[in-house]
Amino acid sequence: MQFTVAIDGPAAAGKGTISKAVAAAFGFAHLDTGLLYRAVGAKTLDGMDAVTAAETLDPVDLENDALRTSAVAQAASKVAVIPEVRSALIAFQQSFARRTGGAVLDGRDIGTVICPDADVKLFVTASAECRAERRFLELSSKNPETTREQVLADVIARDKRDSERATAPLKPADDAVMIDTSDMSIDEAIKAACDAINAAR
Ligand code: DC
Repeated sequence: MQFTVAIDGPAAAGKGTISKAVAAAFGFAHLDTGLLYRAVGAKTLDGMDAVTAAETLDPVDLENDALRTSAVAQAASKVAVIPEVRSALIAFQQSFARRTGGAVLDGRDIGTVICPDADVKLFVTASAECRAERRFLELSSKNPETTREQVLADVIARDKRDSERATAPLKPADDAVMIDTSDMSIDEAIKAACDAINAAR
């Protein structure tokens, strides 16, 4: 059985949490496609050319805990504007989406570019303030010097770059189900996603 769920949305809207929960609930495999761009971004911080990094990316590169920092997130958002970087990562994502047993892919362009024929497309969003607050709580537990202002500025800068780029910008597919998690609990957001998937099965 092939069944593809595409989950897109801006940073810290809850995509990751929802994707993991949905994959567990339905027994589907999950690919966080942001990790691909983060792994490429991390290599550029080490001095490697972005296109070379994307063309030689190894799945093992995705298992690096250091990919979660704000510096790597900003580097990821910068390499993600380069069309050759994006095209080098397409085949891996599309073959993941076609695996038997079902797949959930989360990112920015899954429903629009990577899997335009996905069985279900969700666009998970929340206000910038709400997303920054969540990211602040996550980052400040690891680094006490993190400030709310800096996290909000980073979220806004990344949204702008991700939405305004020419190739595969962040935007909902025409047939995406919109889930605004600003006023939802995690359980409510997961339920909304599962309901949309059950409706399509
Ligand atoms: O989802 P994330 O925060 O880990 O993503 C990091 C960056 O990677 C994000 O700012 C933009 C880019 N990205 C992308 O352009 N396309 C995707 N499908 C996933 C992420």
